[in-house]
Order: sequence, then structure tokens, then C-alpha cells
Amino acid sequence: MTEFKRYTVTAALPYANGPLHIGHIAGAYLPADTYVRYLRLKRREVVFVCGSDEYGAAITMRAKKEGITPRQIIDKYHTINKNAFERFGISFDIYHRTSEPIHTETSQNFFLKLHQQGLFEVQESEQYYDEQAQQFLADRYIVGTCPKCSNPKAYGDQCEKCGSSLSPLELINPVSTLSGTKPVLRTTKHWYLPMQQFEPWLREWIVHEKQHQWKPNVYGQCKSWIEQGLQPRSMTRDLDWGVPVPLPEAQGKVLYVWLDAPIGYISATKEWAKNNGKNWEDYWKRTDTKLVHFIGKDNIVFHCIIFPILLKAHGEFILPTDVPANEFLNLEGDKISTSRNWAVWLEEYMNDFPQRTDELRYVLTAISPETGDSEFTWRDFQARVNNELVAILGNFINRVWVLVHKYFEGKLPGSGTIHFSDQSLQQAVEHTFQMLQESLESYKFKQGLNILMDLVRDGNKYLTEGEPWKKIDSAPEQVADILNNCVLLAAHLAVYMQPYLPNTAVKLFQMLNISPNDCYWDAPIALNGGHQLSAPQLLFQKIEDAAIEQQIQKLEKNKLMHTAVAPFKEPITYEDFAKLDIRIATVVACQKVPKAKKLLQLTLDTGIDQRTVVSGIAEYFEPASLVGKQVLLVANLAPREMRGIVSQGMILTAQDRDGRLVLVSPEDLVMSGSQVS
Ligand code: 2FM
Ligand code: ZN
Repeated sequence: MTEFKRYTVTAALPYANGPLHIGHIAGAYLPADTYVRYLRLKRREVVFVCGSDEYGAAITMRAKKEGITPRQIIDKYHTINKNAFERFGISFDIYHRTSEPIHTETSQNFFLKLHQQGLFEVQESEQYYDEQAQQFLADRYIVGTCPKCSNPKAYGDQCEKCGSSLSPLELINPVSTLSGTKPVLRTTKHWYLPMQQFEPWLREWIVHEKQHQWKPNVYGQCKSWIEQGLQPRSMTRDLDWGVPVPLPEAQGKVLYVWLDAPIGYISATKEWAKNNGKNWEDYWKRTDTKLVHFIGKDNIVFHCIIFPILLKAHGEFILPTDVPANEFLNLEGDKISTSRNWAVWLEEYMNDFPQRTDELRYVLTAISPETGDSEFTWRDFQARVNNELVAILGNFINRVWVLVHKYFEGKLPGSGTIHFSDQSLQQAVEHTFQMLQESLESYKFKQGLNILMDLVRDGNKYLTEGEPWKKIDSAPEQVADILNNCVLLAAHLAVYMQPYLPNTAVKLFQMLNISPNDCYWDAPIALNGGHQLSAPQLLFQKIEDAAIEQQIQKLEKNKLMHTAVAPFKEPITYEDFAKLDIRIATVVACQKVPKAKKLLQLTLDTGIDQRTVVSGIAEYFEPASLVGKQVLLVANLAPREMRGIVSQGMILTAQDRDGRLVLVSPEDLVMSGSQVS
């Protein structure tokens, strides 16, 4: 196995057009941060880079929609996201921006190097052009009917209803979202990367070089992509927001995200190196550097196939050793969606749960979508915090501290260096250390966290079985021994939890009254008899039901606001509407229709007569609860027989998002028979 001297760790550059949610964090940033914190504890040389991805059609579209400039959007979200990452403790060495001049220069030079090698194939093709807006249309700017499922709102690159990827030319009745007009086809020129030329090399590198040991979800996706055969891909776009293609004949064209965003990792490293007296090339061009990309699954092909081809073609760069991509995190039974506001926003979480970032780190790691999609629910969050962090970890530390203070005034009893006197505890620590390292080195963060918690469970068991509270009078020496073992275990926990729970580790070091800087990841921890511990403080607080209810209600409210409603029916004239005779009626009696699960028989006072109406609402109302209620009655609907009962009209209801029916009633009591218009 190659010994690496240094590490370049990247995390996918988030688009600066919206805030971050827990799906982003669980997908790429938290695993990356855990890994990097571990590397730093191992005293490895590492740079951890990220930044805002500030170009692309999504940003220009949003700007157009809001009537502001792309610059205003990126300035706003760059600041928001940078701060949110900082507050949450994602420890980037630099959080850069792709709109910086150093990035323009770096990506243009990259393009030029490939261009000078004659790599690109320049091809002309027909693309949609908006004559009113006078510009070529990015795929996302075109909507039309999906040829596969007839969804009338499919985008030029994808139908979000059936999930098919599309090309704009496949759309039926395409419409430009810029002007609402029908776009026309015009010839344009683009620079294509002939990916097929790299297929043999890719097969060798990804499919055959087994030493990669890439995660099965990553390896599988790459393999199937290669099996399908690689096609030339355009590396440029007709857009006015992006890194300009640095050729005189490419006026009005910009580099596509593939030749832009990942180069952002390189420009970020350059900027960091410049500010920290380092040589950026060590981090990108030396074979003893390990390059690791943390991304979500939507970026696998991008980082495992396209970017490596570009790096390889350029010739001077190293290739990623690993791309530990995660799958997706769902939320309360549904896909996270920015447009439907179905998300837990990072910023909001930190406002609603101040000082509880480790709790979220813990839960997002425990449910990390490492090998398949996983799910966040607020109840599960509460259960994991209360039953694991509070009841297992917090409780162990608290019990130990309380006892040491009670029996020994907070001083470690005895003298000289403390070693584990209990063999099995010592072995558990050694085993944890080894397994934890193996897990972290192989990106199995969830497994590592479980191993760590198992060690805490061992500690709790040891303390409970030792029963120092029963022995303090009869065998104080034994009690001293038990508590010293427990404090030593706590000190090991403080060291090992650092990659996962950095803030809790700081608190525990304070309670231990030792500096984290005096504890090395892989060196024995020195604690001496007589050492004074600080007073106990609770590491975690229980999360109350009310706080969780509030979060669930917030989501429910959003769902109600964003539920897709049925499209409107064809327009009608006022005369059509006026044919309806809608009246206020009062329910005077109500009963179930025998042998009909869904039907209620209502007797209504219409002010003119009393009539019977049969309505399919039995699943939602107790008959007695309706008596006295006022309803809206369509009084001139032709009578209809149902189950042998003649229904004289129909009462109006509204359907809730989950199909539940509610009555439509006047806000104030009105006379029965009043007309509704
Ligand atoms: O998919 C995205 O979120 C894009 N902003 C690209 C991220 S990967 C890149 F940084 F290379
Ligand atoms: Zn479709």
C-alpha cells in the first residue's frame, strides 16, 4: 500500500443559490470533517478545501426570477453558507469562491492546456434559442411535455415526475422559461471532451485496479456508466454567467460546470497555500499525496469519471485515491426538497437548538447514508439523543465525576501514573482504538461511532458491576481503583470522540482538567494520582417532547403550503356558474346508511323544506357531531338514488392533502336557505 505524506481532502462545492440543509451535511460535509479531524489528530499533513460554486444556469435563473443580479445571489448565499458551516464546526482550511479571479485564471489555464494538446473536438449542433431574450437556452430554461410520461412541466435535462434524463430536443411543445415563447433551433459551436478515447484507460483504472476498494455504491455506478459506453460531452455552454472560454472564437461562451467547479478545488488550494506559506502543487501534483473527494451520490460520475479524465488528460495532476460518496438522506418519509421547503435547514437547527451541534453530528453520523439512502425523523433524533448521548455517554461521565467528588473531593486517589488495572477494560480500549482507526481510514464513520459507544457501554457496565457505592466503607482501596479506571477510560473517550463530537470532547477535557494538546491520538494518556478533576457538568441535556413537536409541526405546516393541488378545470362563463343553486342548510338529523361504509344520510333544513341528502363522508364524521352544523348545499342537483334512498342535492366539502374531507360552512351563522353566490 502506498504511504501517503499528505492529504488533499475536498468536499463538493455547494451552489451559492440557497441555504444548506441536513441532507447536504450528512451527504458530504460531516463525513469529510470527521475524516479530516481524524487526520489532523494523527498529525498528518492535510488541506481541507471547499467553497461556493457560483456559476451556472441555476443561479442565473433564480436571479431572473427574483429580479436581481447573479452577483447579489451569490454574495448573499456565500456569506450565509460560509457562516453556517463555521457555526456548525465544519473545519475547512479554506472556504473559497469560484467567482474569484484566481479561479478564473486556473480554470482558463486548465482549458487552454487541454486545447493546446488538441484534445477538444469542436462540434456544431442545433440548440434552442430564445429570439425574444436573444440568447441560447440552457437545458433548465426550457420546459415542455415529457415524451415518456406526458408530464407537461418537464425540464430540458430531466423530467422530475418520471425521473428520465432528457435532452431539450426530446421535449414536446418546448417553451422558453425566459420569455414564455417557443424557442427556435439555431446552430451553435461547442468544445467537446472525447470521453470515449479514455474508455480503455478508465476500465483499467476503475474496473480492474482493485486496490481502490471504492465503496460498492460508487464502484457500481462507475462500472455501469463505463459499460454503457462513453460519449463526447460538451465542456462549454452559451451563457453570460460563468468563466469565459479563453478563446477569441468563443465569444459569449462559458466553461461548463465540469471544467469549472472541480477546478475550484485547485484554485481554493492555491489561495490557501498562498496565505499559509505552502506550495499548492505539493497537494495536487505529487504522487505521495492522497486526494479524496467527499460528495453526494448525484456527483459520482462527475468525480469518478469526468474529473479524472480531465486530470489525466492534463497530465500533471494526481488522481483521486478515493471518492467516498454517500447516498441520500430522506426526511420524515419523503425526499428532501428545497422547492417544497421539505428540509431541516442547518441555520434553523442551530437557532432552534443552540449549543447542540454535537447532537446533530452524532445523529447524522449514526444514520449516515453510507451504503444506501437513509432517513432522518425528529422522533428518532430525540430518541438517539436521549437514549444514547444522555443516557449512555453523559450518564457514565456524570456518575464517575459525582463519585470521585463525593469520595475523594474530585482528586484521583493514589499516587504515580494511573494504568488500567482491569484487563478487560484495557483490552476494550485497545480494541476500540484499533477498530476506530480502521473504520475512519476506510470511511466507515457509522461503524466507528458504534464502536466508540460500545466502549462507553463497557464503562457503564464496569462501574455498575463494581458497585463502588457499596464498598466505600469496607474496601476504599477497591473503590479508588474502580474510579481511577473509569476516569482513565473517560480520558481515552475524550481523545477518541474528537473527530465525531469535537465540542463534547472539549467539555470533557475541561472536566478532566487536562489540555487536549497534551493528549496525543496514539500515545498513552498520562494521569497521575492526586490530579484534581474539575466539577461535573452535564455533557448533554434531554430533548423535550415539546421541542420535537414544534419541529414536526413546522414541517407539517410547510407540507400543507406546498402540496400539489389539482390543476384548474376548463374556464366556464358566469351563466354556467349561475345555473348552480347553492344554499345554506342546517343539519337537523344524521345517521349511517346501513351496510354502506362511506355513506351518511342527512336531513337538512333548507328554510323552504326539509330534505334528505346522502353524502360519502361517513369515514370522517360521527353522525351526531353534524347535527346543528350549517353546510353548503347544491340544491338544484337532479335527485339521485343511493342504496334505496333518494338524495336531493349534494353538500360541499374540501379535501385535505391526505384525502380527509372537511365541511365547507359559513363563517357566521346565517339563515337556512340563504343563497350562496
Ligand atoms: O452538484 C453540485 O452541488 C455542484 N455545485 C457541483 C459540486 S461538485 C464540484 F464542486 F465539483
Ligand atoms: Zn416524465
